Amino acid sequence: MNLTGFSAGTPLTPHHNPLPKVTMPALGEMKRQGKPISALTAYDYPTARLVDEAGIDLILVGDSLAMVVLGHENTLAVTVDEMLHHTRAVRRAVRRALVVADMPFGSYHGAIGEAQANAVRFVKEAGAEAVKVEGPRVELVRALVRAEVPVVGHLGLTPQSVHRMGGYRVQARTLDSVLQLQADAFALAHAGAGAIVLEGIPREAAAAITAALPIPTIGIGAGPDCDGQILVFHDLVNLTFAPAAKFVRRYGDAAALFRSAIDGYREDVEHRVFPSDAESYHLPEAARRLFQADRGGENARDDADAEVNADAVVNIDAREDMNQA
Ligand code: KIV
Repeated sequence: MNLTGFSAGTPLTPHHNPLPKVTMPALGEMKRQGKPISALTAYDYPTARLVDEAGIDLILVGDSLAMVVLGHENTLAVTVDEMLHHTRAVRRAVRRALVVADMPFGSYHGAIGEAQANAVRFVKEAGAEAVKVEGPRVELVRALVRAEVPVVGHLGLTPQSVHRMGGYRVQARTLDSVLQLQADAFALAHAGAGAIVLEGIPREAAAAITAALPIPTIGIGAGPDCDGQILVFHDLVNLTFAPAAKFVRRYGDAAALFRSAIDGYREDVEHRVFPSDAESYHLPEAARRLFQADRGGENARDDADAEVNADAVVNIDAREDMNQA
């Protein structure tokens, strides 16, 4: 028995999702069949496991990690090594969903060879099944796909461009910019991208691009007409400590749940009602008698020693008994 529920020798409970594994080609098939694609971000084992077991099709280890988990002001600071670390944790949890890793800012903005090497690390070292890159980086997408790294594109409001955009602003608000966005989406699709995230654009633009594009679009703040939807997990469950954007719908209040659990624990500790006797380990009976005798004086100890020696077999391994107590 181990005391924590986690041990190196015992694998975490395996789970089996009965639905078929989601692959990049399967996303294309979902579009052709008109089946909506559900996607969420996840950054660690427990949330990725819950998301996967719930049957979400695509899990993005988003660079939003920088903000919602690591507390940075924007997504720019997160590194390749940090993204790899979290992608590995997600990978261990997921059986069915397609695991996509976000390439962080700076990891694909220089030479294509360097970007390719970084992308390969996500597949080889962390088990990602695709990477996501922001912007119309057509040559890069072509090179990654040639190198057998499936790619999800990301157009519209691209958070890594926050300084260029001057903030997080809805994009493609003029005819010219909608046409440019549509051309970029087609170029990425022709370069081999398997899907495209459309973020922070008018519903009308997303609908037109989705209808025309041969690959799935996954919207966030892009209206209901995309082939799929994605949200940041922490937005979904109110763990972001900030007012939600217009496009966010909260489906739960984890902050309230966690607060009440933490308050309850603190109060119980302060009132000495945690832990109870039932939540405590106890000495085995013979050792308890010996212990009491030891505290009661020498004569009593001799009597207790005699008793204990009589049933020594029972007490051969006191540590094991303690684990079972
Ligand atoms: O990093 C992220 O979470 C994202 C999605 C919201 C699309 O890029």
